[in-house]
Amino acid sequence: MAGSFYITTPIYYVNAKPHLGHAYTTIAADVINRFYGMRETDRFFLTGTDEHGDKIVAAAEKENLSPRVYVDRISRLFKELWPELNVQHDFFIRTTDKEHIAVVKAILKKIYDSGDIYFSEYEGLYCFGCERFYMERELVNGKCPDHEKEPELIKESNYFFRMSKYQDWLIQHIQTHPDFIRPERYRNEVLAFLREPLEDLCISRPKSRLKWGITLPFDDNYVTYVWFDALVNYISALGYPDGPAFQKYWPAAQHIVAKDILKPHGIYWPIMLKAAGVKPYEHLNVHGYWNVDDSKMSKTIGNVVDPLKMKAEYGLDAFRYFLMREMVFGLDSGFSETALVQRINSDLANDLGNLFSRVIAMAHKYFDGRVPEVDAETDKDFQFGLEDVARRAVDEFEAAMEMFAFHKALMAVWELISQMNKYIDVTAPWELAKKKSSRKQLQAVIYSLLEGLRVISGLVYPIMPDTAKTMQTHLGQDPGAAFYLIKKLRQWRLMPAGTLLPKGITLFPRIDVKKKELPEIQVLEAERNFPELKPEITIDLLAQIDLRVGTVLSVETIPKAKKLLKLEIDLGEKRVIVAGIAENYRPEEITGKQVIVVANLKPVKLMGVLSMGMLLAANDGKGPVVVVPDRSVLAGTPLS
Ligand code: ME8
Ligand code: MG
Repeated sequence: MAGSFYITTPIYYVNAKPHLGHAYTTIAADVINRFYGMRETDRFFLTGTDEHGDKIVAAAEKENLSPRVYVDRISRLFKELWPELNVQHDFFIRTTDKEHIAVVKAILKKIYDSGDIYFSEYEGLYCFGCERFYMERELVNGKCPDHEKEPELIKESNYFFRMSKYQDWLIQHIQTHPDFIRPERYRNEVLAFLREPLEDLCISRPKSRLKWGITLPFDDNYVTYVWFDALVNYISALGYPDGPAFQKYWPAAQHIVAKDILKPHGIYWPIMLKAAGVKPYEHLNVHGYWNVDDSKMSKTIGNVVDPLKMKAEYGLDAFRYFLMREMVFGLDSGFSETALVQRINSDLANDLGNLFSRVIAMAHKYFDGRVPEVDAETDKDFQFGLEDVARRAVDEFEAAMEMFAFHKALMAVWELISQMNKYIDVTAPWELAKKKSSRKQLQAVIYSLLEGLRVISGLVYPIMPDTAKTMQTHLGQDPGAAFYLIKKLRQWRLMPAGTLLPKGITLFPRIDVKKKELPEIQVLEAERNFPELKPEITIDLLAQIDLRVGTVLSVETIPKAKKLLKLEIDLGEKRVIVAGIAENYRPEEITGKQVIVVANLKPVKLMGVLSMGMLLAANDGKGPVVVVPDRSVLAGTPLS
């Protein structure tokens, strides 16, 4: 596929060491960048550090260092982290780079000359943490909502950027480009903000107060406001205005940020571009927060998770997989090692790892470790549509990746894995191996499974590049080749017969839960007040209850119903189920999970919503605990 693609992460403040939040955004950018590589799109991936402003000066002072020495030190921590996480960015920008500084000045000058920057006296409430003025109505109990501190009243003469002039243009632009900001909730948030008159942006700081910044090109007594400086990195890194990279990759730009910096990216930045006569970027992709114990993981709070520690403990690919699979892009997610271990054991060790070693082991057992011969006709007869299933997985994967719905893309891959496990059960190769007459069928079955694994290795490549290569090696393929190209994943019967398969390996060892000191299972001690056992029933009665595994596709709250959540569930078919779990679960906690559904319960209307079934949950008096399968299975799988 032709075209170009430009992906950026925020440039991170160098006021503390990198943590899991930064790792998530940067890995997500790496995943999407590799995905465009699968499509052979010409691409550019930028990350870097944001090094000017009050915050940085304060952090340097705390360490008794000059800002210069301090920013070099912390910036290096970020720069050295990315290769450790297998992040392949094309350029690392620092706002202290002289090329960047020159572009910031050029943009300021251009906007100043066109009359959109003016000088004025201003008195307002200033939050030093955010480095910006607040309006009364933005404060929560008189405090900055981010830093929970009262802003200070300051009065000074400053330069202002006439953002108000472009308010209507921006509204119009967002309305005519529905996915300019996505997912939709953030687009709505920006539009809601734009319903109030936009204030002009103070873009200077007097040097008497702050020296660590870029001097305004039209007034030596002031430095540039840090956001006006930082945002420009996205074009200065490409060599704006004449650099060949700028010509090639702008405006095919996509930014990824978390919701904390939605406003500068969704409002200031497009208006800055417009005022400077530069086309707006293509998409702003906004994700939620990683929380620890329900509060945002942040350097200010100090509850941070070190990505290198996670890599050392669990392996890089498992960590990357977890981040991409666990978070629904756009919503918040809780981070816990328990959840990480569960995903490793169920999705990676059990589903993917077992399938892989099982298939390779069968190829060794029945075909001396070689890819079996298969002719087109036998293949068609005995693959039972696996080829189409694989292609559908590729389609769904692609559609989800385009929307940054990483969890959905991975669900499509795991659906294929589950179909392949089912295929093994249905075709029972061990039975085919017993009879000489079914040799051809056995060849076709093992061949299809190997092809399926080839497709899977390509699909997991952007998320788990090393694992994908290991899979290729053990499929007898060249791990250095571009095996992950979408066009190859759409083809079937690419693996040449006779290829030697190195002996299987364990892709992901199970993690011993006891060793990891997960919360202990509680037994005996607690006092229990559970109801008496109900009278005995027969198996026939039990057989009338149709229990199925369902995958929760989306969850909404129901207005005025405090206890109820409305779940859309994949049960082989789509179903809406209303569950009384709202007091114990937030929608994002169960989105994407698998649950057990009473599928043939008579539908009932709850608060105006027709509920087509019921979720199974344990109830210990402290509210419902939703029952989930031990590992993921095909949606609609019956319980027996
Ligand atoms: O805001 N969950 O830098 P910053 C998810 N320099 N993502 C998180 C996170 C969390 N708990 N914590 C941090 C700045 N992030 C500015 C940006 S851009 C022109 C200037 C990630 O160091 C997430 O991407 O505070 C968030 O937007 C970013 O780090 C904030 O990084
Ligand atoms: Mg921040």
